[in-house]
Order: sequence, then C-alpha cells, then structure tokens
Amino acid sequence: EFTKAFPNVADTDYSDKEERERSQQAIQTVRQQIGKTYSPLINGEYITTTQTIDSVNPSNPSEIVGKIGLLSVEQAEQAILAAKAAFPAWRKTPVRQRAGVLRKAAEIMEKRRHELTAWMVLETGKPVREGDAEVSEAIDFCRYYADEMERLEQGYNYDIPGETNRYNYQPRGVSLIISPWNFPLAIPTGMTVASLVAGNCTLLKPAEVSSVIAAKLAEILVEAGIPKGVFQFVPGKGSSVGAYMVKHPDVHMITFTGSQEVGCRIYADAAILQPGQKHLKRVIAEMGGKNAVIVDESADLDQAVAGVVQSAFGYSGQKCSACSRVIVLESIYDVFVPRLVEATRSLNVGAAEDPSTKVGPVIDANAHKRILEYIEKGRQEANLALQMSAPSNGYFIGPTIFTEVSPTATIAQEEIFGPVLSVIKVKDFEEAIKVANGTNFALTGGLYSRTPSHIQKAQDEFEVGNLYINRGITGAIVSRQPFGGFKLSGVGSKAGGPDYLLQFLEPRAVTENI
Ligand code: NAD
Ligand code: ALA
Repeated sequence: EFTKAFPNVADTDYSDKEERERSQQAIQTVRQQIGKTYSPLINGEYITTTQTIDSVNPSNPSEIVGKIGLLSVEQAEQAILAAKAAFPAWRKTPVRQRAGVLRKAAEIMEKRRHELTAWMVLETGKPVREGDAEVSEAIDFCRYYADEMERLEQGYNYDIPGETNRYNYQPRGVSLIISPWNFPLAIPTGMTVASLVAGNCTLLKPAEVSSVIAAKLAEILVEAGIPKGVFQFVPGKGSSVGAYMVKHPDVHMITFTGSQEVGCRIYADAAILQPGQKHLKRVIAEMGGKNAVIVDESADLDQAVAGVVQSAFGYSGQKCSACSRVIVLESIYDVFVPRLVEATRSLNVGAAEDPSTKVGPVIDANAHKRILEYIEKGRQEANLALQMSAPSNGYFIGPTIFTEVSPTATIAQEEIFGPVLSVIKVKDFEEAIKVANGTNFALTGGLYSRTPSHIQKAQDEFEVGNLYINRGITGAIVSRQPFGGFKLSGVGSKAGGPDYLLQFLEPRAVTENI
C-alpha cells in the first residue's frame, strides 16, 4: 500500500521546442540585467554597504553577473536586533498565514522558473537542466514545509479522565541560515522557508559566490509578503560577519550546509555560552561526502555505467551527493572500466548555457586550483585512465578517472568536489562494503546488483544516509527521498523529510487538572 504521495512539481520538458526557446530567451534576458548591485535587506530596507564583491560567471569570468554589498558587523548587529523585535508578532502569526507566504513564494518561483534557472546558469555555471531541477526542488520545499507545519500545528492530545495533556510546538527565536553555493537556490530556500514557517525570525547568509541568486530568493520572499524583520538577507564574508552572527548571544539556532571544516567550526563556536545568552544554540550542519557506488558481478552494466557517469560528473562533481568512488568487483573490473571511460569520453564539456553541455565549469579559481592539485596527487597515487581536455577561458576541468586506486589513497578519502572519479578494485562483496564504509563520511551511496543477498547486505551495512539501489545517487526529490547524512557528513534530520521541521521548533507539554 502506498502512502499518499506529495505532489512534486514537474521539471521543464526540454523535448518541447517552445520550452527550449523560452529557456534560451531567458538567458538572453537575464544577460541584459547582469552587473547590478545587490544589497543586504535589513528590517525591510535595502541598505548601502561600504564594501562590495563581484560575482562572476565561471564559464567566462570576465562577465560580472552582479556586485554584492557585504554586510558589516554593525549592520549584522542591526539585523539581529530587528529579528528579535519582529519575533513576538511572527510567533503569534497563524500557521496558515505563515504557510501562505511559502505557497505564494512557490507560485512566484513557478512563474519565474526559466529566469531563475538562467541566473544559476550564469552565476554558478550550472547546466540548464540541472538548474531547472533545482527550481523544482525549491518550489517543492516551500509547499512541503507549508503542509508539514500545518500537520505539526495539530500537536498531540494525551488526555485522560480528569486531566488534559496537550503536546505542542513553539518556534525557537532568531535563526541564522548559512548556505553553500552548489545548490544556490534549492538549499537556501529549503533551510530558510523551513525556519520561517516554523515561526522563527530568519537571517540568510548565502555563499559569497552565489549571492545574486540568493538575492533573487530574497526578492521573492518579500513579494510573497514576508513581514519586515522576519526575513533578512545578510550577504557577507563567512569567516568574519558569518562567524560573528554564529557567536551572537541573541541567535537561537544555526542551520548550515557546507564543508566539513566550516561545519565543525560553527558547531564548536555555537557551543560557547556568550555573556547574556540564556539558551544553548541548536546547530544543524549538513556537510560533505565521499560517496561510493558498488558494482558487483550481477549488475546490469549499461545501467551501472550510465548511473555512475551521471552521478560522478553531473554539475562537474560539485554535489555533496556526487559519486567520487566506484568500487568494482574484480570479476567484472576489466569489462566495466573501459565502458566507464568510453561513456565519460562522450560528455560535452563547455559553457553552462550551451544546451549540449553535460559538464560545465567548476565554481571559481580556488576550486580550479584545488581540483588540479588533487589530480596531480592522483597521478602519484594511482593510474590516470582519463583526463579530458577542457576550454581554457573559464574555470573548466575535464572529467578525470583514476583506476587501480587504493582505498586509503588521498583521492579516495578526501572530498575533491570536482569531476574526478576514483575506481577501486575489490575481490568480493564483503570487501566492497568494507571499502565503501572506510571514510569519515556517510552521505549517499549506491549499489548496482541483481543479487538479493547483496542488496540486503547493503541495506543492512552500507553506512550512508541515502542509499540508492540500481540507480544514480544524486537528485533526491523532496518527500520521496528525504536527504542527509551522518558520521562526518552532518548532524540533523533529513531535508525534505517528516522530521526536518521539528529541529526548528521547541516542543512543550501542558497539563491541566480538571
Ligand atoms: P563552505 O563551507 O566553504 O561555505 C559554506 C558557507 O559557510 C558559506 O556561506 C560561507 O560563507 C560560510 N562560512 C565560511 N566560513 C564561515 C565561518 N567561520 N562561520 C560562519 N560561516 C562561514 O562550503 P561551500 O564551498 O559553499 O559548499 C561546498 C560544500 O558543501 C561541500 O563540502 C559539500 O559537500 C557541502 N554540501 C553539503 C550538502 C549536504 O546536504 N550535506 C549539500 C550541499 C553542499
Ligand atoms: N539533494 C541533492 C542531491 O540529492 C544534494 O543530489
């Protein structure tokens, strides 16, 4: 029996010529709007800043997509004060009304779908189809969390004769969201709207390199009717103003998605009780992965090759969910590897806006340098089976595959966050599971197999938050595949799942003797 499915919004059908034309037209229209300055939104006003940074197109870094006004520490202080002042009214605002803001935001995103995708294409080098799927995810988050809050609002009734016992939820207070650049719309939307609908006054600090798209989200929330002070857009440097807000005594909770290094820093910083602070902060930290796909001797190899290629090289491997290790049983290793290499060779590498592009650029010069250093390390540690060429004008790196990789090699242990895949040979399925579990992370994982005992063993023993069997390991869908990991991949319950909103709420039990 199926539970009633959440009605996820459909992605654009690019087989329809008119949709393809609309998409290309949107890129041209957005290109005419690039170069503007985006300011922080504090207490309902866009404020001027003394410092700005440029956000550029990774496919063509000479193209400035927008200038971002960077919040100062004094302005961060004002924003936190405004959030505190707005909280009493927002916590009393009926859930139906709060959910209404999210549903309106979803409707605006649906209308602006092609345009939002175009901003992602230009600011973060995300190929069109992947950007479009991200708009769907953002819309789903708004509608799903609106529904979820209406469900939770009902609370629980544990009455007995002579005594009422009511269990309900209240918001936590001032809530800080710190987001990464790699899902520049869906992730900040999900974290922000969850916090808002739960009744918290929420500040969004996006990643520096994807702040234009985050500014579009801010515009949408304002248009959807979010009251001033309840939502504030606070772009700024993570290491300075971000860290300042994390440590602020009036902040009740921090919801972070990003690297393990920064997540651990925030977790530690938030644990220190500051003078005047009357609560302990809650931290949700969704961090990185070193995700593996196991391919056994019974796998459908056509399916396995296609799934691994898409999972490893989609958005140039810059997904926390990406496959960066493929663990292959030795009995099929010599058949699988050449097919994997040939399928990868067929990927088009190029500018994200080009509809034929399968692998776009990486995000910026730092990432480009870091990934090339890992490739150099890989040359020393393993056998380079493929390094595709790539255009030299943007931050491009051709898909790269290393074979005969030791499970303990640096390239098999550290998150590279680029189009680099390590192939590891194992003698049997037992060893495959051991190698798959042999990192600090536990985010996504996959198995291609038609052997029921292997499928069962993977379900029981593969240490990942999201396990995918006989399909790719990226592209979780809201409500269908609630998303998130454990071990050093993060603390917190799954985004787009039934427990997510509970993290933004304080449960209370009220008993009355009657
Ligand atoms: P990052 O950790 O460099 O930055 C994330 C955010 O933290 C940015 O907004 C940044 O400005 C801010 N920040 C940096 N230093 C800070 C500090 N000291 N205090 C407060 N804020 C600070 O990550 P990124 O490069 O933007 O994103 C890529 C990483 O995100 C990868 O590791 C990827 O695996 C991870 N990720 C995880 C998930 C998940 O759901 N588990 C999803 C997407 C991305
Ligand atoms: N939720 C994203 C995915 O599943 C990270 O790919």
